[in-house]
Amino acid sequence: MKRNLITVAGLSLVCALLAGCERPPVETVQRGYRGTGMELVYNPRTLAEQAPNHQAPAPLDAASPDGPKAGQVYQNVKVLGNLSVGEFNRTMAAMTSWVAPKQGCVHCHNVQNFADDSLYTKVVARRMLQMTQTVNSQWQSHVGKTGVTCYTCHRGEPVPKEVWFQPLQPKGANGFAGDRAGQNAPATSVGLSSLPNDPFTPFLLGAEPIRVAGTEALPAGNRQSIKQAEWTYGLMVHMSNALGVNCTQCHNTRALGSWANSSPPRVTAWHGIRMARELNLEYLVPLTSSFPAYRLGPAGDVAKVNCATCHQGAHKPLYGAEMAKYHPELLVKPAAPAAAASGVAALTADDVKTLQAMPAALTKPTGAPG
Ligand code: HEC
Ligand code: HEC
Ligand code: HEC
Ligand code: HEC
Repeated sequence: MKRNLITVAGLSLVCALLAGCERPPVETVQRGYRGTGMELVYNPRTLAEQAPNHQAPAPLDAASPDGPKAGQVYQNVKVLGNLSVGEFNRTMAAMTSWVAPKQGCVHCHNVQNFADDSLYTKVVARRMLQMTQTVNSQWQSHVGKTGVTCYTCHRGEPVPKEVWFQPLQPKGANGFAGDRAGQNAPATSVGLSSLPNDPFTPFLLGAEPIRVAGTEALPAGNRQSIKQAEWTYGLMVHMSNALGVNCTQCHNTRALGSWANSSPPRVTAWHGIRMARELNLEYLVPLTSSFPAYRLGPAGDVAKVNCATCHQGAHKPLYGAEMAKYHPELLVKPAAPAAAASGVAALTADDVKTLQAMPAALTKPTGAPG
């Protein structure tokens, strides 16, 4: 009897442990030379579950470019003035279906007066138009010809599903309690690991160095600390999760720092890091005061972009569906100066410095060699 109980207890323990594993079969894709262990492991069931989220909606019928321009007909058009009235209305219809299909035009408009800018959503949307144009025209190093539309991030929702806020800094007694840098507080941002749980502030807002590996055989000259490496790993775990890939999508894990051993997506990712940083600094942060308080994070900061905002678990957003090409108005370079033209103040150099001031734990690394 006792023996049976132990067996049952043992079996349930095994089941409990296995519940954390993925049920076979899984699929593997070879990413590098045979024998180098560069393999990507996919779970076909997870992929099937995600598939509907990565379906791109069908494009609207093209509108005629003839007739008077929107800038001549309407009163308060600052970004899309060169479109014909037909094209302009097509863009409004598309934006509605991408961002506010349930709410409709009233999400952004006072329908008594479409020219009125009193709703914050309209002010934000105007800046989002310019942000989308910037991604498509200035960041082809990342988005290629595929490009993005509002749908890439919004997927039919007013607020994109994947955004990030800065965590509240724990109150320490004048630094006496130490700064644990968000470690050992498992967060989904870093795949529930014990890595620093805000890898975004240093790298996707600030421009802290990400590379930590020494370039020489002996540890001479490399002053990076374990703590900095953990921060880098935090970002890497986010990147892998956001794209639904393993480290081997980009790296040969024999030599994580070596570009010669890496695969082409690592270069695309390098540009993506810089792009996300620019979108946050140039577009989202300056919009902070436009948003109502309930849209801000616990530390009072605006929702910001990371890799998951566009990718949402796919190696290419929407599995690489080319939606942007049906919207040439989203492919042009925004007219400069972009911020001023939309009535949103740009950040000053001092603002950027304050924002990029890093958490103390990162700038004063413990255990730094030498
Ligand atoms: C996601 C926000 C958003 C939604 C939803 C939206 N609009 Fe707009 N609308 C804007 C923005 C931003 C502008 C200003 C564009 C510019 O400055 O180039 C604008 C401008 C306009 C104007 C020009 C008004 C003027 O006189 O200056 C009209 C007309 C208009 N929208 C109609 C519509 C209609 C009709 C719908 C619903 C089918 C709609 N919009 C849905 C954001 C939105
Ligand atoms: C790179 C990702 C990205 C793209 C592309 C993008 N947005 Fe956004 N959008 C965001 C983020 C992040 C926010 C901030 C979330 C929040 O509102 O708290 C946001 C917020 C908004 C809001 C305010 C919503 C609210 O209720 O607070 C509107 C309106 C909006 N976007 C419209 C648009 C339109 C229109 C386009 C296309 C022209 C667009 N967005 C393209 C990321 C994106
Ligand atoms: C989508 C591509 C991509 C994925 C996936 C990825 N990395 Fe990276 N990794 C990069 C890029 C790009 C850099 C260089 C960033 C820079 O310098 O701005 C980098 C840098 C690094 C570095 C620093 C190398 C050095 O020179 O010091 C380490 C360590 C690292 N990655 C580990 C990992 C680990 C571990 C994983 C899996 C959890 C991973 N990476 C997943 C793209 C990727
Ligand atoms: C504004 C939306 C957006 C954001 C934010 C974004 N990406 Fe991308 N990414 C794209 C698009 C669109 C493509 C597809 C480009 C193409 O088809 O050539 C892409 C492609 C890639 C690829 C190449 C995939 C392949 O299989 O060739 C990598 C790697 C990648 N992104 C990594 C990242 C990382 C890492 C981040 C965060 C630092 C990031 N992306 C943030 C939109 C985005």
